[in-house]
Amino acid sequence: MSAGMLSVANIDTSYGETQVLFDVSLNVGPGEVVALLGPNGAGKTTALRSILGLTPARRGAIRFDGCDITRAHTHDIARSGIGWVPDDRRIFPTLTVARNLAIARKRTRFRAWQEKDCFEIFSALEYLMARECENLSGGEMQMVAISRALLGSPGLVLFDEPSQGLAPKVVQDVMKTITRLKSEGISVLVVEQNVQSALAVADRAYVMHAGAIVHEGPAHALLHDAPLQRRLLGI
Ligand SMILES: Nc1ncnc2c1ncn2[C@@H]1O[C@H](COP(=O)(O)OP(=O)(O)OP(=O)(O)O)[C@@H](O)[C@H]1O
Ligand SMILES: [Mg+2]
Repeated sequence: MSAGMLSVANIDTSYGETQVLFDVSLNVGPGEVVALLGPNGAGKTTALRSILGLTPARRGAIRFDGCDITRAHTHDIARSGIGWVPDDRRIFPTLTVARNLAIARKRTRFRAWQEKDCFEIFSALEYLMARECENLSGGEMQMVAISRALLGSPGLVLFDEPSQGLAPKVVQDVMKTITRLKSEGISVLVVEQNVQSALAVADRAYVMHAGAIVHEGPAHALLHDAPLQRRLLGI
């Protein structure tokens, strides 16, 4: 497989003495949407943390956009064009939406995003700008979290369970946003428990189990193979 936009090759990652990723390899091509699935504790968040330099890999290599980022610092990785929508959304609750967005702006070699580009995707966002984030609904907060990632002008966005805690209609909106990013040429790696929704928008999927990749293939094949889903994901 070609190296593509993101290439994670044979990484091992540990928390202290406890190894949680074992020889993990995965790729995301330019403008590709890739789902990373697996049960609780499989290592999905840790894989994202290794890519972001938050919990660096002990072995193996991570390349993004032609550069080795295996041991790069998190802020340099963000500046190179990797956006992150974390599972806890990490919005500053006492700041307004406008302020949360303003501090997220970065320039990269990729398309520069402005607030007005985010309003085009999330029409409600414009009317929330003066609100303090602690008063937002879960869906509104997710809009802010995704907009923050976009204002970092990314070539790749990592989503960690973006549908968590959201109403089904809002989950659909989040998945539509992922499709929209793809149409803008942005690559996406999305970790999800909401397997059907993620597979419906992904091009390819990986499944993790106990810190290792146990399956890789086209998303539509897994979406339409209930026995395989049951075997790999227990659903
Ligand atoms: N900070 C940490 N220190 C020690 N162990 C950790 C830490 N964070 C996660 N782990 C362990 O690493 C393993 C993988 O966790 P991780 O959060 O990557 O899984 P996950 O696939 O994202 O799970 P979930 O679906 O529940 O979010 C688990 O056994 C977890 O207990
Ligand atoms: Mg997780």
